[in-house]
Amino acid sequence: MMRKVFVTHQLPGGRIHELAQLCDMNVWMGPGLLPASRLRSELAGCHGLVCLLTDRIDKTLLDAMPALQFVSSMSVGVDHVDVQALSERGIPLGNTPGVLVDTTADTAFALLLAAARRVAEADRFVRRGDWTEANAWAPEFFTGKDVSGATLGIVGLGEIGQAVARRAAGFGMRVVAWNRAPREVPGVEMLTLDELLACSDFVSIHVALAQETRNLLDASKIGLMKPGAVLVNTARGGIVDENALAAALANGRLSAAGIDVFAKEPVLADNPLLALPNVVITPHIGSATICTRALMADMAVANAIAALQGQVMPCCVNPQVYD
Ligand code: GLV
Repeated sequence: MMRKVFVTHQLPGGRIHELAQLCDMNVWMGPGLLPASRLRSELAGCHGLVCLLTDRIDKTLLDAMPALQFVSSMSVGVDHVDVQALSERGIPLGNTPGVLVDTTADTAFALLLAAARRVAEADRFVRRGDWTEANAWAPEFFTGKDVSGATLGIVGLGEIGQAVARRAAGFGMRVVAWNRAPREVPGVEMLTLDELLACSDFVSIHVALAQETRNLLDASKIGLMKPGAVLVNTARGGIVDENALAAALANGRLSAAGIDVFAKEPVLADNPLLALPNVVITPHIGSATICTRALMADMAVANAIAALQGQVMPCCVNPQVYD
């Protein structure tokens, strides 16, 4: 009998049909995202799960899925999954690193430039009809912050952080970085986190969300940032204390921010960052290009196919389950 695999969303890419031929595949067709309660009922009796970062895979869910043999997430981040609980059950978890590196670095840079040069704010200004004879080109009209020649602090010098560093070099920036494990990257000066925060005109976050990085940029760290600095976050919202960030942006301590990720997504209407004109906001689209999303989907499918065929997943977060 074919094993049952549940896919929590329709996926792009070319390989999903291969998966369909290898298992009894059931795909959630929407509308919208699969509600957690439905996920639970759909999954009883399933052997495999292909999910998104919007699906919470926790112990309660795993307890309801005694037959589960693998999970493959179409994401590089796996903070939505209780990895330890999976590992304890000997269940491999696949993810999709690598293919989204440049796309995500582009998003970080887009937000950095947009925040520095007030692009979203200026766009709103024009569309509102506020660009009038009385309120037009003037020496200080919509002045922002220079990127060229400024110092960029990269928090987390993994693949995405390094791709951001390459872009920054093209803009003539000085690049400094902090990483938990020592790293040597040409053109990048390694600093402690506190040193980085004190000297950077721009800070871009590229660490994964884990116990050690939750609230890494809390009120006291934000307080160490250079006056007038810009913060960019394309990693995970939970890494930054959003209330402390909003306070620093509101009182002028920081000049702007570019934020793609939030502690709670979709972002809540009362999130204080939404009320600030100097915050450029995007809805978690760091890896959102047609090409990259297709590559991520194919990678998630490749992990699922390997698991179905009794092979090691090409990208496995907890490879110790194979020991
Ligand atoms: C996106 O945020 C991802 O983790 O893939």
